[in-house]
Amino acid sequence: MADEAIEVLLEEGRTFPPPDAFRQSGNLNDAAVFERADKDPEGFWAEQARELDWFRTWDKVLEWDCPWAKWFIGGKINVSYNCLDRHVKTARRNKAAIIWEGEPGEERVLTYRDVWREVNKFANALKKLGVQKGDRVALYLGMVPELLIAMHACNRIGAVHSVVFGGFSAESLRDRINDASAKVLVTGDGGYRRGTVIPLKKNADEAVEGSPSIENVVVVQRVGSDSGAVMKEGRDHWWHELMAGAPLWCEPEPMDSEDMLFSLYTSGTTGKPKGIVHTTAGYLLGVYLANKWVFDMKEDDVFWCAADIGWVTGHTHIVYGPMANGATQVMYEGSPDWPDKDRLWRMVEKYGVTIFHTAPTAIRTFMRWGTEFPAAHDLSSLRLLGSVGEPINPEAWMWYHEHIGHGNCPIMDTWWQTETGHPLITPFPGVTTLKPASATRPFPGIEADVVDEQGKSVPLGGGGYLVLKRPWPAMLRTVFNDPDRYVETYWSRFPGMYFAGDGAKRDKDGYFWLLGRVDDVMNVSGHRLSTMEVESALVDHQAVAEAAVIGKQHEVKGQGICAFVSLIAGVENTPELVEELRAHVARKIGAIARPDELYYAAELPKTRSGKIMRRLLRDIADGKALGDTTTLADPTVVAKLKEQYEDE
Ligand code: PRX
Repeated sequence: MADEAIEVLLEEGRTFPPPDAFRQSGNLNDAAVFERADKDPEGFWAEQARELDWFRTWDKVLEWDCPWAKWFIGGKINVSYNCLDRHVKTARRNKAAIIWEGEPGEERVLTYRDVWREVNKFANALKKLGVQKGDRVALYLGMVPELLIAMHACNRIGAVHSVVFGGFSAESLRDRINDASAKVLVTGDGGYRRGTVIPLKKNADEAVEGSPSIENVVVVQRVGSDSGAVMKEGRDHWWHELMAGAPLWCEPEPMDSEDMLFSLYTSGTTGKPKGIVHTTAGYLLGVYLANKWVFDMKEDDVFWCAADIGWVTGHTHIVYGPMANGATQVMYEGSPDWPDKDRLWRMVEKYGVTIFHTAPTAIRTFMRWGTEFPAAHDLSSLRLLGSVGEPINPEAWMWYHEHIGHGNCPIMDTWWQTETGHPLITPFPGVTTLKPASATRPFPGIEADVVDEQGKSVPLGGGGYLVLKRPWPAMLRTVFNDPDRYVETYWSRFPGMYFAGDGAKRDKDGYFWLLGRVDDVMNVSGHRLSTMEVESALVDHQAVAEAAVIGKQHEVKGQGICAFVSLIAGVENTPELVEELRAHVARKIGAIARPDELYYAAELPKTRSGKIMRRLLRDIADGKALGDTTTLADPTVVAKLKEQYEDE
């Protein structure tokens, strides 16, 4: 977000105190919790951890040898047991866990007992394929219940899942499988998106050709004969065939608190995504508590997080957090504008959704579509709203409040990251006075600060880098197979502090206002991409000599991708080639990485030491006047580039 925009935000005086209903009966309505947690964080987390079901309680709460954390040492616990068995033992057994709707319109309702049964059976099927504790299983599926079932089946037997978003390309899938040395891949014959079939199996086949660690592929039949999926004898197995013969009970593995639960790849500042490692007890505790407190989950709520399970939001706010709380959830397979732009609101009305969670980019899209779509439906069941993934602008916040929440629903603007496991700067509906577009204040037990270049705390009212100064149970433990990168990325910029990569300001009340990334990570429609990943995909094309990519402010996506490329001598810079290069990036990484804008440059502006001057490219892309360019090796390059850009 531009600095001027944030100044406007900070000046705006609108506040929204907690409504009486939340003040009285919110799951967290005692503000004293924050003070207690601050004074004794370990005692606070331990007190909360007692709400989980342990096979053996821990001997020690925390061992902290910065940046290496171990929580609940000596404890034994199983995540699927906490998300399923403990509900199945109570009257919740017949409660709807998942109300699923396919894009073409089918409905499936799975009770807690249904999910429990499927999870047990699939856990046995995985075992039969030779999967053992600690083995990695890659999951590449659309939004179908089998994805959630497979994730719980993995954690039931202590296997580590690595979910790869179904919109990623074959090549992205292959890289992630290989980095994790996954033994089994679970995919689908296809999935539906905007009425067309996504060729999951075809991509999976292409990926597995270059993934020697994969021994077996399990295929969920979603589409049927239209999918064109071809099964490879001996390697590929239909999900339903494996399930038909699988026994009903699988003993949950008593996992060590610190055993790895999953890895999820996310973009950093280099071209290679990193596998963020989460462990068992700490992650489970964090997501249980965050969903209970931030989203105030109650027995009769119908919760809908409209994210994809391929991202961390779906892990935390679909698969693990709500299920640890025994909540009923809606899950939707497809696109929000299929067959019409009122699809989501139709579903809110139909299923009586009470809590709805989405991303600012989606809210801005709804705004653009117009108020008539939500207005056509009875949304009075809603009582609470959520926002996640990127800074939300005040206009979008107000629109969401008015047109979706009808003025009655507090909005939880939750700041967090794949690495943090759950929201760390966030309001709570029973205690927090909201300010539109501020993620407000830290979660109990979390010490967040804003520091300057030297790591010194900036007084209230100032801006700088967002850091976290204390470990927390759901924090990442390392980067898969790359502990040095863990230390380097998160703990070396400011010694002793976790550096989030975000800029932030704090106002005089101590409220945090997130300003976006301060590194080479872009946030495109709430999805994280590194500039370097897109640059590597571009230079991989035979016509391209060099490429520089920047994130550019975009009205709907938050940031759009803007690429500058110089071509190999002799290649002509045609409009067709622009399209070819955009398509090439989409093929290499996935459609989310397709550049919005692509410009030819005779040469890219560089400093004398050869570093690409991104600031200059940003200024050019924003059409701003150029600043000091004396460090450029060849100042005429920029002038040419700027001229060319303005001609477009
Ligand atoms: O820049 C921040 C932004 O998203 C980044 C984390 O991306 P990812 O790991 O993909 O996780 C997204 C979902 C948790 C952060 O570094 N971000 C996330 N939530 C917010 C946000 N920026 C501002 N406000 C938020 N509420």
